Amino acid sequence: MNRRSFFSWGTAGVAALCSGIGVSLAAVGRFLTPSVFYEPPQSFKIGTPADFPFGAPTFLPDEKIFVFRDQAKGFAVASAVCTHLGCTVKYFGSDDRFHCPCHGSIFNHDGTVAHGPAPRPLEWLEVTLARDGKLLVDKNKVVNSSYRLMV
Ligand code: FES
Repeated sequence: MNRRSFFSWGTAGVAALCSGIGVSLAAVGRFLTPSVFYEPPQSFKIGTPADFPFGAPTFLPDEKIFVFRDQAKGFAVASAVCTHLGCTVKYFGSDDRFHCPCHGSIFNHDGTVAHGPAPRPLEWLEVTLARDGKLLVDKNKVVNSSYRLMV
């Protein structure tokens, strides 16, 4: 075997090795990525503004959110997921607070913790108006409790 032939076989060998490593990494990446996501979408439409009454918040059980509609302040959406261990809180108009049935946390109307063990306030979620006139909630976008959508 002469020198030229040695380098040509060496180059082919290195190329084959790199190709094999690339294919293996692609297979591992494909194995680690799920084909189906079972998590519900984090951004969703909840209806038109007219679907929501003024006053007490409307609870949407599938989305686990409360939709507030105030004549002067507009729309706001709060997560119904307790910040302690994730139970779904319930709104009580009698004291205008959210109560967690699991361990007794109580949240004020603005989501702040009135009584533990919840470590943090309820999350407020961004709500916008989509082009089709429906309210669009994005659970990935946590906003300040003073955030309001005026419609
Ligand atoms: S999950 Fe709500 S208080 Fe524990």
